[in-house]
Amino acid sequence: MGNISYEFPVAKDDFERAGEASSKIKKILRQLGMDSGIIRRVAIGAYEAEMNLVIHSLGGVISITIDPESIIITAEDNGPGIEDIELAMKEGYSTAPDRIREMGFGAGMGLPNMKKCSDDFIIESVVGKGTKIVMKMMLKDGD
Ligand SMILES: Nc1ncnc2c1ncn2[C@@H]1O[C@H](COP(=O)(O)OP(=O)(O)OP(=O)(O)O)[C@@H](O)[C@H]1O
Ligand SMILES: [Mg+2]
Repeated sequence: MGNISYEFPVAKDDFERAGEASSKIKKILRQLGMDSGIIRRVAIGAYEAEMNLVIHSLGGVISITIDPESIIITAEDNGPGIEDIELAMKEGYSTAPDRIREMGFGAGMGLPNMKKCSDDFIIESVVGKGTKIVMKMMLKDGD
């Protein structure tokens, strides 16, 4: 069986549709009969990545690739990039303005949670270009 891949565009500031990509990803995994534990981890990672695209980026794409060994979630955006990745990865660090915090975001937990729910986590960013995050979740027997 070949790998299965899906792509979901995510628009900047589109709070109306925010969360749709990660909901669709969750649904796909449910339909494939995946284990609830792996679905939960993928859903958390995808949701946090999606919200960061909506809130902090100029827009981008979330994609999922399912192969026999793993699920890979990728989030790639068109800028503005992250100046200090180490700082951005710290629990509690957020540049979210008040209007975003009033909506319940901006705890500074998204990136640390993405790392926690992944077996492999890669973040690359170039200021003025964009950010790419790759989360790999390994499947075990029974998933
Ligand atoms: N795709 C991105 N493009 C540019 N900056 C980003 C991106 N993702 C995260 N950041 C920066 O990294 C910071 C930390 O991100 P993180 O997801 O951990 O927290 P948050 O989004 O601010 O709050 P929370 O995720 O808890 O709602 C953000 O406040 C922002 O400054
Ligand atoms: Mg976040």
